[in-house]
Amino acid sequence: MKLYQLMNRIMFALVLVGLAGTALVAGDHHESQQSLYKRLGGYDAIAAVVDEFVQRLATDPQLGRFFQGHSVSSVKKIRQLVVDQLCEATGGPCYYTGRDMKTAHAGMGISEADWDASVKHLVATLDKFKVSEKEKNEVLGAISTMKDQIVEKSAPMGEKSK
Ligand code: HEM
Repeated sequence: MKLYQLMNRIMFALVLVGLAGTALVAGDHHESQQSLYKRLGGYDAIAAVVDEFVQRLATDPQLGRFFQGHSVSSVKKIRQLVVDQLCEATGGPCYYTGRDMKTAHAGMGISEADWDASVKHLVATLDKFKVSEKEKNEVLGAISTMKDQIVEKSAPMGEKSK
């Protein structure tokens, strides 16, 4: 084999190795870039998590009072807005049309203890659906950013503070 033929083969081999490497890196990149929405299992999985979570809050002895007086369709509407919100926040193809968290919860007097009880329900829900630790922490991280807008220091509207 002539020298230039050998050189050509070596160059060709190097190009192939380079391409394969790029493909592998691109594959990894794609993996790590998957949205939380997709990693959670998409819309149906998120909807199932929210259904369970809302059901738990509405039937909890400590938290149920917040949902009293709502019609079935009103609770369904809240459920749908939470689905949309979580879907959008995790990178899904949804658009949240509800109110901001401060406006939506203002005057309800949701306390720190109510918040903690709600987060426990969320953790139990994510565990029930076998959401892995990484994704669970990402969901909890996203929710925790809303705490200051939802928890109120003063008593609910119409009640005297103790
Ligand atoms: C865990 C974080 C929470 C998220 C992401 C969340 C999300 C939402 C959303 C999206 C809405 C609908 C907003 C709208 O109507 O425009 C809503 C409303 C509501 N939330 Fe939350 N919420 C959270 C915590 C809580 C807690 C801790 C309670 C009480 C236990 C609560 C009780 C309610 C109630 C009763 C409504 C209906 C308000 C109304 O009728 O105007 N939420 N929430």
